[in-house]
Amino acid sequence: MLSLERLSKTFQTAADRVVAIRETDLHLEEGDFLTIIGSNGAGKSTLLNLIAGSYPPTSGRIVLRGVDLTGIPAHRRARRIGRIVQDPLAGTAPSMTVAENLALAMKRGRRSLRLALPRRLRRRFREQLTALNVGLEDRLRCRVDLLSGGERQALAVLMATLVPPEVLLLDEHTAALDPSNAAMIVRLTRSFVERLNLTTLMVTHNMEQAIDVGTRLIMMHKGEIIEELHGVEKSQATVPQLVDLFSQHHVVDDELLLERVV
Ligand SMILES: Nc1ncnc2c1ncn2[C@@H]1O[C@H](COP(=O)(O)OP(=O)(O)OP(=O)(O)O)[C@@H](O)[C@H]1O
Ligand SMILES: [Mg+2]
Repeated sequence: MLSLERLSKTFQTAADRVVAIRETDLHLEEGDFLTIIGSNGAGKSTLLNLIAGSYPPTSGRIVLRGVDLTGIPAHRRARRIGRIVQDPLAGTAPSMTVAENLALAMKRGRRSLRLALPRRLRRRFREQLTALNVGLEDRLRCRVDLLSGGERQALAVLMATLVPPEVLLLDEHTAALDPSNAAMIVRLTRSFVERLNLTTLMVTHNMEQAIDVGTRLIMMHKGEIIEELHGVEKSQATVPQLVDLFSQHHVVDDELLLERVV
């Protein structure tokens, strides 16, 4: 359903030229849940940014359900692609209320809908927030910047899936949270992805999480996919095995940010 075809991205700055993604092919089937690990600067975020349309690739194509997305701007892709990043404020409108943010999320890139909130919609939002089980149902009128990081990221998960996206992109969306909130967000993410059968790409530095969550795992280094695991190979993998695989590709521990593995 999603194909990256010989995708490359080179960043040219005044100082140097960085090949962030190098002639990468990747194909995801409907409902695939891909976890992505890799060294610092491996190109993980660039890969997700290219899919989201934050910038165009230097070469190659991105095809979603037969439609070439490559020339389509990010705001139009946002109707089809949901995204959550590390900073819980980035995915929400901080000065607006929880209810207003949910109303915005319902529009998913479409401009016409008014923001007025009929009582029926407010009731529906309350039910959906109750299901998150983090106490947000009583805070519909609360400004998002007054919520805790964990609460905001829980809201971001609901917002990204309120209108189910065709592809969900998660870029270290638990990395800024303490372990218990991170676990809560992983639990929520899994339940939404499984219930809605969302095709998902999740970047994480936490190797246990990468093994535990999802159906496929890729390792990236220097702009390339260097290994892929799926099926029992993935579910029965261990962190030392992954570290060993990395070392076979001459990736050193420092680059893997292993201190963030819990
Ligand atoms: N907008 C940009 N301009 C110039 N160089 C960039 C830009 N974005 C990324 N890069 C470079 O491209 C490479 C890949 O960066 P990317 O952010 O994709 O890495 P990453 O795998 O997400 O790393 P991390 O684990 O640190 O988040 C890095 O060398 C980075 O410095
Ligand atoms: Mg990154």
